[in-house]
Amino acid sequence: MKIAILGHGTVGSGVLKIIQDSALHPFEKDLSVKYVFVRPEKVDQNELFVDDYATILNDEEVDVVVEVLGGLEPAKTMIIDALKHGKNVVTANKAVVARNLKEFDEIAEENGVKFYFESAVGGGIPWIINLERALRIDQIDSIHGILNGTSNYILDTMTKTGQSFDKVLKDAQDLGYAEADPSADIDGYDIENKLCISVDIAYNTFVKPGDHLLKFGIRNITDEDIKYFKKHNLIVKLLGRSFKKNNSFNFVVEPTLYTPGQIEAGIHDNYNFVGLRGTTIGKLTFNGQGAGEFPTAHALVQDILDLKANNVHLKRDFNEEFSLDNTTKKKNYVVRTSADLESKLPDYDIQKDGNYYHIAEIDTQKIHDVVNELSSDDKGIFFACISGGAYNPWIEK
Ligand code: HSE
Repeated sequence: MKIAILGHGTVGSGVLKIIQDSALHPFEKDLSVKYVFVRPEKVDQNELFVDDYATILNDEEVDVVVEVLGGLEPAKTMIIDALKHGKNVVTANKAVVARNLKEFDEIAEENGVKFYFESAVGGGIPWIINLERALRIDQIDSIHGILNGTSNYILDTMTKTGQSFDKVLKDAQDLGYAEADPSADIDGYDIENKLCISVDIAYNTFVKPGDHLLKFGIRNITDEDIKYFKKHNLIVKLLGRSFKKNNSFNFVVEPTLYTPGQIEAGIHDNYNFVGLRGTTIGKLTFNGQGAGEFPTAHALVQDILDLKANNVHLKRDFNEEFSLDNTTKKKNYVVRTSADLESKLPDYDIQKDGNYYHIAEIDTQKIHDVVNELSSDDKGIFFACISGGAYNPWIEK
């Protein structure tokens, strides 16, 4: 198979290395990279580098286009052009997949080619393929995951070292985990994209990232918060979760607290974790490296090998409709704020501990609405959900 890679950043160069380096793989006769699409100023650096996309589109030898440019445009247009020119496309670009999955899939179908995106969710974890496999038999009603390597690295390192958020974010960027704009990682947008893609496949629907989906990130977390959670034997993770019942589903990205024995609490460094619940398989979970050069490139090359072997992925039409309702699940939350929280929630069971409040049994929509309201008075407000199985140090008092 002849391959063209669009982009030569961290992941693009990883794909090139895996395919070209015989020490890293056993299939040099089967796959070869014919072009790498780069910016004009880089063209002279390597004989494979080109800056003219038409060369790739019009080369009938190219079977697969690997899109690793990131961002929405020109990635979207280039993916569509490749599909329309009869090229299979594989991509790690979760932002563009989350917004256009249905359209890409339809265009691929019309042109007799495939569109695969294993690496877009969970990096190196074989998540999409196993989600699709579970769906061959089961209905899936629940997905949850630590789906961002950068935020997990930040929270884990803050927990292990007591260092400040800013210092650890800088280290994550230096390690190549973070997105160019760190807000995608720390404000929950990246997890939102990945949860949208997972939900699309799991529920056979199409949920676009946007403001109606609840999300709150870790931008405001402090080393004092981490210390406070540790004092109560709790570990914080940035989690995305969705649950479907009958005709509605909930969808939220928010910091979530676990006790050390829970599986999510043991996901360290840049590792990701993702799980589903299916009718016959029950709970099924995966973990592995969710970001970085080789884990992500590995998943891209797996997609290419699936194309080569003609391993056809599960077909979805993404046409089922469900309403979004984040009021159906009540959970316990911890909020740290200097604003007047109690007056906003007069009917709730709230315990105060300095600037930390424990609120029992509140629905997800309500707590997000209240925190958003209070954030005009307290821009540094932070909150976290106490996961179902976690020991609740306030309630047990
Ligand atoms: N910035 C992303 C992360 C890269 O940290 O998980 C992989 O999607």
